[in-house]
Amino acid sequence: MDASADGTDERRFSRKSVLRAAVAAGVALPVAMMGVPALARTVGQEGGLLEPTPMCDDGDDPTPPQTEGPYFKPNSPRRTSLVDAGTPGTRLTVTGYVFGLACQPIANALLDFWQADVNGVYDNTGFRFRGHQFTNANGAFTLSTIVPGLYPGRTRHIHVKVQAPGRPVLTTQLYFPGEPRNQTDTIFDPRLLMTVRSVGSGREAAFDFVLNVPQSSTNPTTTTTTTPSQPGGTWASGTNYVAGDQVTYGGAGYVCLQAHLAQPGWEPPNVPALWRAA
Ligand SMILES: [Fe+2]
Repeated sequence: MDASADGTDERRFSRKSVLRAAVAAGVALPVAMMGVPALARTVGQEGGLLEPTPMCDDGDDPTPPQTEGPYFKPNSPRRTSLVDAGTPGTRLTVTGYVFGLACQPIANALLDFWQADVNGVYDNTGFRFRGHQFTNANGAFTLSTIVPGLYPGRTRHIHVKVQAPGRPVLTTQLYFPGEPRNQTDTIFDPRLLMTVRSVGSGREAAFDFVLNVPQSSTNPTTTTTTTPSQPGGTWASGTNYVAGDQVTYGGAGYVCLQAHLAQPGWEPPNVPALWRAA
């Protein structure tokens, strides 16, 4: 289901996606991660390879935290599926990886998910649509659930806490592309958009977490920064962009993928859900 594997969605061709594909393909991880410059390539508009990215910094900053909200409950059951045969709602499978700062996958990371049911209601007495699990040896996870319902004041979202062994907890939320309320929900952050596609009557979503966990690089001497000295360009915070708008930033051109109000931190290379390389 990894769209990056067949090239159907170039937004998935981030450095993380390449690593994700390498992991999925069973590439020996120490070798794969040692060859950072070789892996750290971004595929451009014509499918050609652009400059290698010297560091894990092309949108792979740590996953931003978000408010826990009022409905978290501790001690959720350990399970990867929150549904059974009779559960109403559109089936949704969320898959992804948990990475550290050097883009190396983290095994045994805790993921604790909670969400509303199809009617936008949280179970605050029991544990419906609540469950925790751990990433496997490759740092991967899979959650089987439904598309959460809407409730007043919020856009569609899934709550999650993610924790590498012995590290602080990241509390955040995951979002769905194309939701009208993404435009008005003040908590919404496009950096937390999942990649979602329809498969049959269900949905398949992908999201990779990057935790603020230091990892020793196996090739630290090759990380000399070659990023542009002056990011600059026509992109401007505070501008209302619509799909198809074109800007420049850091010497590169980008095309807007969905309407949004530009904000600091949402510069084109940081939010592949909003901008693709032109
Ligand atoms: Fe919520």
